[in-house]
Amino acid sequence: MKLPPLTIGPFTAPIPLIQGGMSIRVSTSALAVPVAECGGIGTIGGSSIPTEDLKADIRKAKSLTKGIIAVNIMYAMKNFYNLVMASIEAGVDMIITGAGFSRDIYKIGRETNTPIVSIVSSPAFAKLAEKMGAAAIIVEAKEAGGHLGTDVALRDLFPSIREVVRKVPLIAAGGITNGYEMAELMDKYGADGVQIATRFVLTKECSVSDAFKQTYLNAKKEDVVLIHSPVGMPGRAIRTPFAEKLLRGDDLKAKECQFKCLKKCDHYYCISDRLIKAHDGDIENGLVFTGENVYKMKEILTVREVFDMFVSQAESVYKEPVIS
Ligand SMILES: Cc1cc2nc3c(=O)[nH]c(=O)nc-3n(C[C@H](O)[C@H](O)[C@H](O)COP(=O)(O)O)c2cc1C
Repeated sequence: MKLPPLTIGPFTAPIPLIQGGMSIRVSTSALAVPVAECGGIGTIGGSSIPTEDLKADIRKAKSLTKGIIAVNIMYAMKNFYNLVMASIEAGVDMIITGAGFSRDIYKIGRETNTPIVSIVSSPAFAKLAEKMGAAAIIVEAKEAGGHLGTDVALRDLFPSIREVVRKVPLIAAGGITNGYEMAELMDKYGADGVQIATRFVLTKECSVSDAFKQTYLNAKKEDVVLIHSPVGMPGRAIRTPFAEKLLRGDDLKAKECQFKCLKKCDHYYCISDRLIKAHDGDIENGLVFTGENVYKMKEILTVREVFDMFVSQAESVYKEPVIS
């Protein structure tokens, strides 16, 4: 059966799939545009890049597609509001926020007619986000990549949030690797759509270095670890030599704060620096964020191939949801 579209505020994506935002230039317009062209929602990772660069990338994306372009901005960023306002000024369609909770963002959304999508990992925050005016809510579970707000698995967490969110679309995120799982989350668990990130790193269009993609392709299950992040939340990463140092608790104190990027930082090491290193191909010294199921993905595809695979698998099994 055909998958239903996903409507968030005034925007309708023909395919109910959001490509998860990945900061430090992992998801730029290079990835978001083909995703939007395929009928999903393409998300530019907006944290930790200069405001002018973010604006230029959003404008570029908007000029290249009539599809939906979102930006993901982490609340933990010191310049959160600047990034939000700059994104709106550049014409982004919607703002997705995670890694912390902002009450003021909903007011900005109302004043500028910009849908605000909140990433949450608990029923309490989901309820609050819906009450404050979120246009959609993303449930991000422990299988996700990047910073994690919970240690609860998606299929355990999602039902507890589905029970309390009734008015706005609810999207499932974390560890989804194929269309069968997409259909399962939609028809059995009542998700209105899914958010997927790790699968999109392994695409031709994703602009990370080849070494970054090879690290994904070579990862085994036991290579995926949880590390300490100066953001104050655990992060999921691949066991690189630098991640080993974190796991051992080596003394890494960042000598100078180059980026001054976070509202609160414990300065154990500089996360922006380490993520940039990995993005650029220095896997030895870099931090490679990933979702838990990276080891299940063994090929680099085009974004179109990922969409075709997800949609054909999902539609081969998708039925009317049992939860309304
Ligand atoms: C490399 C990488 C970077 C990420 N960066 C961010 C980010 O900046 N902000 C955010 O809210 N989520 C971030 N995430 C989480 C994703 O947007 C997404 O919700 C999650 O990874 C979904 O799980 P999956 O990767 O298993 O599909 C990141 C994930 C990865 C793999």
